[in-house]
Amino acid sequence: MKKPHIPLETLQAQAMACHACPLADGRTNVVFGTGNPQARVLIVGEAPGKNEDLQGVPFVGAAGQYLNELLAYAGLRREDVYIANVLKCRPPGNRNPLPSEIEVCTPFLREQTRTIDPLFIVTLGNFATKFILKTDRGITGLHGKLYQTGKFKVFPVFHPAAAIYDRRKRTDLEDDFATLGEYLLQEGIVARTPQSVVREAEAHARAQAAGAAVPGASAAPGASGGLEAAGLGDAPVDSAPGAVEPAAPESSTSHAGEQESLLL
Ligand code: URA
Repeated sequence: MKKPHIPLETLQAQAMACHACPLADGRTNVVFGTGNPQARVLIVGEAPGKNEDLQGVPFVGAAGQYLNELLAYAGLRREDVYIANVLKCRPPGNRNPLPSEIEVCTPFLREQTRTIDPLFIVTLGNFATKFILKTDRGITGLHGKLYQTGKFKVFPVFHPAAAIYDRRKRTDLEDDFATLGEYLLQEGIVARTPQSVVREAEAHARAQAAGAAVPGASAAPGASGGLEAAGLGDAPVDSAPGAVEPAAPESSTSHAGEQESLLL
């Protein structure tokens, strides 16, 4: 028989009362997770930092600001997704999570995932990716591709904090979130992305040019071209990455590692 899903409020109350590892002694707040409890996209980070510990909310510092920008590349807003971390309490000095901490804390993430039941899980950085995909492979070789793990489509990317001072990683992250947007478009999870808006505007302009080339043909109504014509004049196209190949989620999914995911 299938285990019932535990309500997020119950899990959060359990996490707030948790003293299973020494991180509980140094915390200001448990950072359980926030966002849309019905999200089709779950974002998984590593562990709270200083600001997150103080506010009890994930990704509110510099990495969080950048994450918000990255979501827009995929046609997502922060309120569309649910955001959680591998660890719910801040490791001192932002050091890496210890295996023992991951072991005792990840039952929360596992149950959160079962309850939210997303279609996509976006893993930020090595710790989230290794836990969700149950792989020893590093993020450098895994990012930007879709992996099927059980019922979930897992999309690993670099951690936004790693890209703040590294231009090359920024480019990778922005390209990867644009690729994610293509997958989300195909699944009908987002209606548009900055790239799809550009594509529509270009198609519109081509149609207009073709119409204008036919003597006597009148221009299509509202065919002024550009983003305004697509009804999306305020989309962040200036910072949009270049076009990506159309994605083919099912056929291009890969299988990372031999081991089964803990989320199965
Ligand atoms: N980095 C993370 O991995 N999680 C946060 O919540 C903040 C920074």
